[in-house]
Amino acid sequence: MDELVALCKRRGFIFQSGDIYGGLQGVYDFGPLGVELKNNIKKSWWQAMIYENDNIEGLDSSILTNPLVLRYSGHEDTFSDPMVDCKECKSRFREDQIKDGKCEKCGSSNITDPRPFNLMFKTGVGPIQDENNYAYLRPETAQQIFTNFKNIIDTTSKSIPFGIAQIGKAFRNEITPRNFIFRVREFEQMELEYFVNPGDDEIAHDLWVQKRVDWWKEQGVPMESIELYDVPSDELAHYSKKTIDLMYKFPHGLEELEGIANRTDFDLGSHSKKQSELNIKSSVLENKDSNSKLAVQNDDGNWVVPFVIEPSAGVERGFLAILNEAFNIEDLADGKQRTVLRLKPHLSPVKVAVIPLKKNNEEIVAIALKIVKEIKKLSIGRVIFENTGNIGKSYRKHDEIGTPVCITVDFETIENGSVTIRDRDSMDQSRINSTDLNDHIANKIKL
Ligand code: GAP
Repeated sequence: MDELVALCKRRGFIFQSGDIYGGLQGVYDFGPLGVELKNNIKKSWWQAMIYENDNIEGLDSSILTNPLVLRYSGHEDTFSDPMVDCKECKSRFREDQIKDGKCEKCGSSNITDPRPFNLMFKTGVGPIQDENNYAYLRPETAQQIFTNFKNIIDTTSKSIPFGIAQIGKAFRNEITPRNFIFRVREFEQMELEYFVNPGDDEIAHDLWVQKRVDWWKEQGVPMESIELYDVPSDELAHYSKKTIDLMYKFPHGLEELEGIANRTDFDLGSHSKKQSELNIKSSVLENKDSNSKLAVQNDDGNWVVPFVIEPSAGVERGFLAILNEAFNIEDLADGKQRTVLRLKPHLSPVKVAVIPLKKNNEEIVAIALKIVKEIKKLSIGRVIFENTGNIGKSYRKHDEIGTPVCITVDFETIENGSVTIRDRDSMDQSRINSTDLNDHIANKIKL
């Protein structure tokens, strides 16, 4: 993990938030390369969900959440972790972080009994700050998908089975954020709520587990690095009938990368009006506040509350897993080493670097700039003009940040228009005509 963290800082992927004031625990900022990688992960997920499935719609709902949403969802009552205090050094921990009954900071066994600690952030809304004017920062993106269920059905005429997908920030006041960006207080989720007829839920669940494993593979996280964990009933979230967690071998250990839950009719049933008419199968709180019936009519004209299958992935955990898979330190023939990020090209923060052999040669620099302009027309993402005058150093840098293609412009380019193309993974170099560059790159990057 230390090498990854060092690379992230050195190359501008991730910084501690509020660093110049000592930081804010469990909160990170994504720098120039980090934001590109993060955006590329999200783009790839959006592509796989929305653009490849006619029956999935997108949503971008608010972060500030009406407390009633999180009351009926069960979060006000149950979204907590058991917390303990060390009576000696006053440190606080999640109960499961206490090993052998001892405080991990001072080693004392003088620990309090566990008590629930609600993980939601509460904030004042409007100019009057009192008990009646507050909202929560959403702890998951899912809830506003459920509360928008009828809006989306009414505006898109979707019928079951169909899904609503969303990417966005979620906030949890984690007792002990740790392991870099693995467990943080502000993070992003990529969540799909896929609505099916009751009875079709188990097949749909299996299908989505497979689809998600396949998607991770396309991002460079192979099945060999993932274990499927069938969450035992006593560990299931309050809404779940069954959950399969995709557990990834993170540098600090095997932990959850994504959860795929069968949320049954719990959420729509909880947020719906006229619950008594709906034959809701889950046990839900009586809802006296909702003005919407969150159900669909089946072919017989009966109202049915759909079951929900939910693949829910954290962007930061995906980022960490993808970086961990891509990260390699390799021995070279000359006895030196190189660090290389073997990222899938569609995820690379920089797609192409164009490097003039001589940084002060006007002709070479002008051709390089022209090539940059041409490649940018492909709209593949970041294309960099790298005018350091040191080819070897530039290659090392771009290996380290995962740039799949480097192009070098030299004296031969002036003579015959050919350039050197260098491949990140094989380090092979070949010459091609600059007029063939766009085809070569489009083929290599394949967005
Ligand atoms: N809507 C379901 C839900 O939120 P979850 O298992 O609590 O389920 C889903 O969270 C995913 O969100 C996790 O698999 C993980 O990738 C990510 N996640 C959850 N808490 C996180 C945290 N504190 N820091 C980073 N990612 C987190």
